[in-house]
Amino acid sequence: MQRTRVRFHCDACGADAPKWVGRCAECGGWGTVVETAPDLVTRTAARATTSAVGGAAPVPLASLDTTGAQRTATGLEELDRVLAGGLVAGSVTLLGGEPGVGKSTLVLQAAASLAGRGHRVLLVAAEESAEQVRLRAERLGALPDELLVVADTSVPNVLAHAQAVKPTLLVVDSIQTVHDPELDGVPGSVTQVRDCATAFVRLAKERGVAVLLIGHVTKDGSLAGPRVLEHVVDTVLAFEGDRHHALRTLRAVKHRFGATGELGIFEMAGDGLRGVADASAMLLTDRRAGAAGSVVVPVMEASRPLLVEVQSLVAETNATIPRRQAHALDSGRFAMVVALLQRRCGAAELARHDIFASVVGGVRCFDPGADLGLALAIASAWVDVPVPPQTVVIGEVGLGGEVRSVAAIERRLLEAARIGFLQAIVPQSAPEVAGIDLVRVGDLTAAMGAALAVPAEP
Ligand code: TYD
Ligand code: MG
Repeated sequence: MQRTRVRFHCDACGADAPKWVGRCAECGGWGTVVETAPDLVTRTAARATTSAVGGAAPVPLASLDTTGAQRTATGLEELDRVLAGGLVAGSVTLLGGEPGVGKSTLVLQAAASLAGRGHRVLLVAAEESAEQVRLRAERLGALPDELLVVADTSVPNVLAHAQAVKPTLLVVDSIQTVHDPELDGVPGSVTQVRDCATAFVRLAKERGVAVLLIGHVTKDGSLAGPRVLEHVVDTVLAFEGDRHHALRTLRAVKHRFGATGELGIFEMAGDGLRGVADASAMLLTDRRAGAAGSVVVPVMEASRPLLVEVQSLVAETNATIPRRQAHALDSGRFAMVVALLQRRCGAAELARHDIFASVVGGVRCFDPGADLGLALAIASAWVDVPVPPQTVVIGEVGLGGEVRSVAAIERRLLEAARIGFLQAIVPQSAPEVAGIDLVRVGDLTAAMGAALAVPAEP
């Protein structure tokens, strides 16, 4: 049977379509489906089969020399931690994040740090002028000789510069603003982004240059650019943070040269990003211990335990539909916890109250291990009784109101003990940890009894 040739694709999300349609079936975009030129199909296929090592013959795996993967530490400790040591020569790393999160700042600091240690770095500014980059560099106090900058958006030009300059690291800021004039599509379209990235991958593999591409992603992921690159590059880093807070987190979503569990934490300051070694202590600095509605919860951010403060406010209302608002929390879990309190803990009165809950400090918390802490924060705000200040709360809550065990409970407890907490309300199965007393609870009602020292039944 003859296979149908894919002749059309959506320029917004990259989905293939067998025939032209006005609306993309995948992303719902109107007028985004365009014809894929036959020569482009062949060209892309040809590029895909040209492997990194050209036409090299297969060799026994055991005979390969692994010392070839040279890692260069950037000197930014938090970045190197996420990269499992540093940037690998010949590899391509994509740094994705929302506009304004600090991607250009992070790469400039990394580039300056590398250049300061004698490695040549070529920075391609495709969004800003070279002068703007210089201004930022001055602000960061970083102007080493080996840091070269070129403001250009044409990929053939950039490749030529890279071949002339022979940098250790090539930074492209950003992949959505460079383009190949020979290809169809505006800069940032799927075709352009994918083909330009492929050109940089080839440069990296052929010349042994480490390449760092910056890619913008928006909250709803509507700009599909960086997504289509994830399988093309070796490493994908996600840089996240709330623009109104200084805290930024960096994690590896994909890493061909190490584990992906590490988390890097930065603080955006007036003179650039600073690594934060003790994030738990920083997050709890402004906490008012002993306030009703506040609970400290050890959550896992990648493989790193962090102590966050969950807060809640409960206020009586005459509105027919009371407000339910969760900030930096999973709104689905928030709704479930409120329903559980109403149905299983005798707090039916909550139906006539507005309930607000948030995680403060700029960390977003989607860890189910924060369920119990959230429930106790709401209950504490509701009865206006504080949870003992030296207490942390860990546990997932099931729909039956039972408190369930969560991942990495020992690491969470160790972090709480390190910061100086003396007591933890935990699920029944929690292991003993030195330095912290455990109060094991089986369900939500028992947890309320232990934390709030008031009868759970009204
Ligand atoms: P930027 O790195 O340009 O973000 P991106 O490249 O991800 O779009 O920086 C974003 C914000 O960071 C910008 O609004 C200003 C702020 N900023 C600081 O607070 N301190 C600094 O030292 C720098 C360079 C930027
Ligand atoms: Mg930028």
